Amino acid sequence: MIPFSPPRIENEIIEEVIDSLKSGWITTGPKTKLFEREITAYVNTKKTICLNSGTAGIELALAWYGIGPGDEVIVPAYTYTATANAVVHTGATPVMCDAGDDFNIDVSKIEKLITSRTKVIIPVDVAGLPCDYDELNALIRKKSVLKKFTPGNDLQSQLGRIMILADAAHSIGSEYKGEKSAAFSDGAVFSFHAVKNLTTAEGGALTFNLPKQFDHDELYAQLSTKSLHGQTKDALAKVKKGGWRYDVIEPGYKYNMTDILASIGLVELRRYEKDTLIQRRRIFSKYNEMLKKYDWALTPNLETNNKKGNAHLYLLRINGIEESQRNDIITEIYNQDVVVNVHYQPLPILSYYKRSGYNIDNYPNAFRLYKNEISLPIYYDLTDENVETIVQALVNAYEKVVKKNHVEEAV
Ligand SMILES: Cc1ncc(COP(=O)(O)O)c(C=O)c1O
Repeated sequence: MIPFSPPRIENEIIEEVIDSLKSGWITTGPKTKLFEREITAYVNTKKTICLNSGTAGIELALAWYGIGPGDEVIVPAYTYTATANAVVHTGATPVMCDAGDDFNIDVSKIEKLITSRTKVIIPVDVAGLPCDYDELNALIRKKSVLKKFTPGNDLQSQLGRIMILADAAHSIGSEYKGEKSAAFSDGAVFSFHAVKNLTTAEGGALTFNLPKQFDHDELYAQLSTKSLHGQTKDALAKVKKGGWRYDVIEPGYKYNMTDILASIGLVELRRYEKDTLIQRRRIFSKYNEMLKKYDWALTPNLETNNKKGNAHLYLLRINGIEESQRNDIITEIYNQDVVVNVHYQPLPILSYYKRSGYNIDNYPNAFRLYKNEISLPIYYDLTDENVETIVQALVNAYEKVVKKNHVEEAV
């Protein structure tokens, strides 16, 4: 069986985790703080806080910006549910936008969704290919859009415009105009979930790159408090002599990362640019190379003019098939012991969002992308032989399903 995305757990990671376990310090501590500094340096932003999930990162950023009932947050219809769920948790309304042909939010369709209630846009770098950040940044600074912006608190007045909070769950390491793409938003959230290309088993980080009127050290202190019950001291500060007394200044969340998780992340980050990324991009390109001879294979881009993906997912689309044929092809691939996936079922087709009034007919491009999409395995240890086996399984499945249909049509 070729799995979809197993983690790469080697001795280096095991030893670093053991080191944490033996150190006597297993919750948030020195390794988490080091991991935060290393992420900031790697993606070239101003400050990073590590958390126990990417979802926590989106929720924390929205809570910090004071998002709540009555507010609207623009999210893509084509994403994992965490992006929109986080908005629902605040009491605000997710306003969905259709996808463009690259799976990412179609920036040209955002403006007509903006109202005086719009406070945040959450673009998602689907599969690790960055969104159109220049266009997004130009849009939120457009005179007519600025005029609509109605701040609901001091922070929103201080920013003076819609915030761009990138859901960069897939895209640590991705580049936009030659720089890491996280630096092109006000805040970006990474996920280090087990299937992510840089993992800590579960985990995430929120990194900020706000304009200069914001003091990022102060921001970090606020977020640390907010992510730990609103307590003015974290565990590390409390164990210091005389450190028992703390205050609670707000009913904060419980989102902190542990040093055990950070120890995995430190090893992952150390080998990421020079090893992980090279290997993932190589596999991605091998798929593209092998599939280019099939006219039914709509292969994804690893790079465009100003974007360079990190090959987080390989989102293949099959030309000319319907949803049911895609599903049959997936079954046929499974029958050959290869695990594939679909990224994503657009949110409006999922029960909760359907029930809440979202209608897939309003997101035609998202459905068009979804109905013939199949995600092929991509992970560090996938060999060239594996890639050949997967492509052969796909070709067999396509021929079986599509040929069968042709025969049935002829009869
Ligand atoms: C696009 C997207 N956003 C957010 C998340 C949430 O990340 P986490 O699972 O770390 O909470 C994920 C995770 O799968 C994701 O794919």
